[in-house]
Amino acid sequence: MFTILTGAQFGDEGKGKIIDLLAENYDIVVRFQGGDNAGHTVVVGGRTYKLHLVPSGALYGRRLLIGPGVVLNPRVLWNEIQALESEGIKLDLGIDAKTTIIMPYHIELDGLREKARKEKIGTTNRGIGFAYVDKIAREEVQMGDLTDPAMLEAKLNEIGPAKEKAIADMGGDPTVVRYAPFIDEYLEIGKRLKDRVTDVSREINIALMEEHNVLAEGAQGAFLDVIHGTQKFVTSSFTTAGSACANLGVGPVMVDNVVGVIKAYITRVGEGPMPTELKDELGTKMRERGGEYGTTTGRARRCGWFDAVLGLKSVYLNGYTELALTKLDVLTGIDPIKICVGYELDGETIGYPPESTIQLARCKPIYENMPGWTGDISAVESYDDLPETARDYVERLEDLLGVDISAVSVGAGREQTIFREAPEK
Ligand code: GDP
Ligand code: IMO
Ligand code: MG
Repeated sequence: MFTILTGAQFGDEGKGKIIDLLAENYDIVVRFQGGDNAGHTVVVGGRTYKLHLVPSGALYGRRLLIGPGVVLNPRVLWNEIQALESEGIKLDLGIDAKTTIIMPYHIELDGLREKARKEKIGTTNRGIGFAYVDKIAREEVQMGDLTDPAMLEAKLNEIGPAKEKAIADMGGDPTVVRYAPFIDEYLEIGKRLKDRVTDVSREINIALMEEHNVLAEGAQGAFLDVIHGTQKFVTSSFTTAGSACANLGVGPVMVDNVVGVIKAYITRVGEGPMPTELKDELGTKMRERGGEYGTTTGRARRCGWFDAVLGLKSVYLNGYTELALTKLDVLTGIDPIKICVGYELDGETIGYPPESTIQLARCKPIYENMPGWTGDISAVESYDDLPETARDYVERLEDLLGVDISAVSVGAGREQTIFREAPEK
């Protein structure tokens, strides 16, 4: 069975929690895009793990893979491996030889470019965009190169001068490009990771042929996709489900399920349009209740009402076969609860987001009110035990999106999840 899981909004939907849960039934969990801009939280037995590169199946001891569509900062990965292993979590991790390496100069360029922008994107400053630029420009350092000092040197001699010029032109420090201690450190990490280097496409295809289960883990969310998101306020990778096949080297006919993770409201970190944003006390309340602070940067996330207009587009972009709804508990005590069911754009009512980001920024939400509920729902174990108005809310979202919500999450812990049907074994 091959399942792809993606974020259906602007990231931070709770993908880490849902992947951890699903991992019980999978043999392999594989990341297919993004880098350490991602921050996926898994809470097990009261202990919180914040994962940036290691796939969220780590706590179930699954085979973990990092695919070649990922941009990988070896320092971050090494630190994460060390931190997890020091807690007794043994990692069976493979990294594709073609995985793009984020070099210190990518981080330098990311910072310089963002600083120079009049209108900021709000990047995580992890060098993500510039690492992907180099992949497309065919000027990348790959994981395999870190295990081969002569190859790395040759590549840096070829790529280096243009990078030094680009950094100097932007007023930065060009010595970062071929700074010997950085190169030595990267090579040292390469040596330590050498035995983990693999061919991800081959592993996955063989696993599927042998009837093993593979779960592809997306990072970020649909509206941060570099093609379909709110350009320019997006990340630099392809975050929607279709990209998993291309990035992992698996044929599209192999896909069995596409799971979307969607929050019971909406959040965004960084700049860019978000029609249902609440800039008032209610937005602050959602942020505090939901702990809506970036896992990677600690920045406050912008919060707002559930946007079913964007939600529908996300269903189109990803072809979801089911949804996991997270953070329903955060809405407890809020009455009424609003759902955005349309936009007003330049005097017209529309039910689907405009393709242009500038137009999306002008959209005014049209809301429908739903009655709220009181009383703690964070320990509810069965769907029928949720308050009726909470079930009405879930079912209204289901109607609006046209996709079954198969799991409802009512807290960060692994056990705080209500499955409406038994998860597929
Ligand atoms: P990801 O990037 O999609 O994996 O999401 P993050 O981990 O960045 O952010 C989600 C946050 O919400 C994390 O702190 C989770 O522990 C937490 N979380 C996940 N599901 C729930 C839930 O149902 N209720 C509450 N209160 N918190 C949750
Ligand atoms: P997870 O996987 C939320 C946002 C940044 C910024 C924009 C571009 O945890 O859901 P980048 O550094 O990628 O060039 O920044 O994208 N962003 C995220 N927002 N969750 C994420 O990942 C994000 N990864 C990037 O805040 O607005
Ligand atoms: Mg996150």
